[in-house]
Amino acid sequence: MSLITYQEARPWARSIKERVATRQMPPWHIDRSVGVQHFKNDMSLSDDQVETIVRWVDAGAPQGDPKDMPAPPPLVTDNGWKGQKDGFGAPDLVVKSSEYTMPAEHQDVWYRPMSDIPITESHWVKMVEIRPTNMKSRKIIHHSIAYLVLNNDPDAVNQGTANGPDRPGGPDDLVNRRPQLMEWAIGKGYDLFRPGTGKLLVPGEKISWDQHIHAIGEEVTGGSEIGIWYYKKGEEPKKRSYLIGFTGIDRTKMLDIPPNSMAMTEGFTVLKENTLIENFQPHFHLRGKSMQVEAILPDGGKQVISYVGNFNFNWMTNYIYDDDAAPLLPKGTVIHVSAWYDNTKANKNNPDPDQWVGYGDRTVDEMAHAWMNVTYFTDAEYKALLAERKAKTVKTTNDNERQQQ
Ligand code: HEM
Repeated sequence: MSLITYQEARPWARSIKERVATRQMPPWHIDRSVGVQHFKNDMSLSDDQVETIVRWVDAGAPQGDPKDMPAPPPLVTDNGWKGQKDGFGAPDLVVKSSEYTMPAEHQDVWYRPMSDIPITESHWVKMVEIRPTNMKSRKIIHHSIAYLVLNNDPDAVNQGTANGPDRPGGPDDLVNRRPQLMEWAIGKGYDLFRPGTGKLLVPGEKISWDQHIHAIGEEVTGGSEIGIWYYKKGEEPKKRSYLIGFTGIDRTKMLDIPPNSMAMTEGFTVLKENTLIENFQPHFHLRGKSMQVEAILPDGGKQVISYVGNFNFNWMTNYIYDDDAAPLLPKGTVIHVSAWYDNTKANKNNPDPDQWVGYGDRTVDEMAHAWMNVTYFTDAEYKALLAERKAKTVKTTNDNERQQQ
């Protein structure tokens, strides 16, 4: 469907009203009443804009005076980088995986090739974006993770989280120690690291891909490529950014979603360091409904960080917090992820509400975690950052005062 000209958009007027008024479109599903509300990549409409569209449809979707029509923005129909569309220029380096041919009908496949990173000196990375290698393969690639195979760089290993004191070496703990350059899933854009933070690429490192591919009824060939934007020489950051999948499931228990029912799980992860959270990207499969990330502070206080109430499998939107709004949490904080599942026919993405659903990697299985990049701070740095924020206007709903007590 095209919304470019009036003639093309007019037949969609009622659907446009419905999608916009229910805030399914544009695909920005973060709850507007709770948690962090300031983002670097906010593509949502303001209440006024929604109201204008609703009034236009209610008035019969009139054309208005064609003389008032603004020039259309350039049309993008290729497999372009979102980062480039958002004004960051072309990536400095693109690393591509080999491609896989998925037959029309097949069980899900996890395709795990390795790619060299062709660099001769180390580079600090400020932004990364994974995309399927062609438009058609966007239909078959469910997720693509670029793990880093290190070359003598132990600092790249995340040491700052644990899934409870009794769970060292548990499945989530192991995932979160594995250095990841980026995780991408359907609908996601880029990861943009905060100023002064980033990921380090060292010569001799490789990318180990983990690509979840599913069949769509026609044969498709595709893989993944990652665009990498460097910090300029002289502007290198001091801090590492670590990508963590905060679990929404206690994996010592079974995930049990009976047919035609709703279910809820929760997961807890202890922050061993003072931590700044940079972004939020909820990840579920087809029955995912809602996810909330909450911080339980060492003093027992709680603060909601983000909540998505109407998750849609086609839109794994990445919500990148504004610099001053990114939650800053003291060590000892517990990240509590609550996850709700809808295995009823009310869920439009549900392939079969009569099926039992358990934990697993296939698209028809379920999982829940919140992908977040984090940075760690020493006590002195943490205090300095709190003081710096206090001096500025703090653009967040977080209760920073309470953290300082
Ligand atoms: C004010 C802005 C927008 C409006 C009015 C709008 C409107 C709509 C409508 C009415 C539909 C439903 C079509 C159907 O019933 O088949 C839809 C679906 C879709 N839109 Fe948008 N949209 C907007 C922004 C966006 C943006 C920014 C993107 C891409 C980033 C996007 C991508 C899509 C896609 C891929 C679908 C089909 C998949 C789905 O339903 O989720 N739209 N949009």
